[in-house]
Amino acid sequence: MALPAFPVGQDLIHDQQWLISEITRLKKARGAVLLAHYYQEGAIQDLADFVGDSLELARAAKRANASTIVFCGVRFMAEVAKILNPDAEVLLPDLEAGCSLEESCSPEEYRRWREEHPGHVALTYINCSAAVKAMSDIIVTSSSAETIIRQIPVETPILFAPDRHLGAYLERVTGRSMVLWPGTCIVHEQFSAKALMELKVDHPDAAVAAHPECPDAILALADHVGSTSSILRFVQQHPATTFLIATEPGIIHQMERLAPGKKFIPVPGGSGECACNTCPYMKRNTLANLYTCLRDGQPRLELPEELRLQALRPLERMLAMTAPTPVVATD
Ligand code: 13P
Ligand code: SF4
Repeated sequence: MALPAFPVGQDLIHDQQWLISEITRLKKARGAVLLAHYYQEGAIQDLADFVGDSLELARAAKRANASTIVFCGVRFMAEVAKILNPDAEVLLPDLEAGCSLEESCSPEEYRRWREEHPGHVALTYINCSAAVKAMSDIIVTSSSAETIIRQIPVETPILFAPDRHLGAYLERVTGRSMVLWPGTCIVHEQFSAKALMELKVDHPDAAVAAHPECPDAILALADHVGSTSSILRFVQQHPATTFLIATEPGIIHQMERLAPGKKFIPVPGGSGECACNTCPYMKRNTLANLYTCLRDGQPRLELPEELRLQALRPLERMLAMTAPTPVVATD
C-alpha cells in the first residue's frame, strides 16, 4: 500500500510545516497578536508579530490593538500583558512556563522582607509574580533598571529583588549600594567562566556579549553587558565577525537573521554535557502547544482585578520613567 503523501490524524501535530500553516491561519481567524521573546524556538519567533526583550514586550502588549494576545514567553510576561492590556484575552501555550527567579521569591517571604526594611524604595525585577509586583514600588527590566536607579534620590535606600547577580551588576554601574534578594536565574548562573576563557583563547578576535543575570566572573570577561535587545544591537553594530554569547541561545536565531555572515558561539553551561544554557521554562512553549492554544483559546491567563490594579501601579511607574528605545528591526 502506498504511504499517504501528507501526515494524517495525530501525526499532523508533529509536522512542522502543517503546524506553521495552521498557526498562521488560526492567528488570522482569531484576530490575535503573537508576541514572542528571543528565547523561544526560531520557528515561533518567525511566526510572531513582534519579538523583543521584556520591556519592549510589555510596551507591545500595552499598545496591542487586538482582542487576543498570544504570548510565547514565560508566565510572568503574559501576566504583564494582562495587567497592561486587561481588555485583551491573553493566551499562553503552557501556564507552567515559570521562571526560577519568580520561584525564588514567594509573596509571603517578600512581604516579610519589605517589612524588615522600612523606609526603603522597593525596586523589583519584572521576573516575579504579579503578587510580588503588587507589593513593589517600581518594576524594572534589564534594559530599564539603570535609568530608573539613577532617578532615585541618593539618600533613599533601595531594596532590589529577586536577582542578586543583576542587582550586584547594577550596584557596580550606578555606584549605589542596595539590599539584594538572594535569587538567581538557573540558566545564566550556569555559564562557566572557565569555558568562556577557553573559547576566548580559541577565538582571540571574538567579542563577548553577556546578559546581566550572569555572575560577575562572566560579566568581567564581557565586551557588552545588557538586555537581550541590547545584545542584539551590539552584535549588529560591532565590527567583530565572531561573538561569544552568554545568554540563552534562542537569541542566536535573530542574530543570524540580523547579522548574516557573522558567527555566534553559545557559551556552554557548567557541565558541558547538559543543555543547561537553554531555559527549560521558555522551551515549554512549542509549535504543537501554540497550535492547540490558538485552536482552543486555552490556556488563558486570568488575574483577580484587585491584584491586577495593585500590580499595574509599579509597572506604570517603570513605563513613565523610561523612554521607549528604538526597537530592533526583525523583518
Ligand atoms: P530581557 O528583558 O533582557 O529580554 O530578559 C528576560 C529574561 O528572562 C532573561 O533571562
Ligand atoms: Fe527566568 Fe532565567 Fe528563564 Fe529568563 S532565562 S525566564 S530569568 S529562568
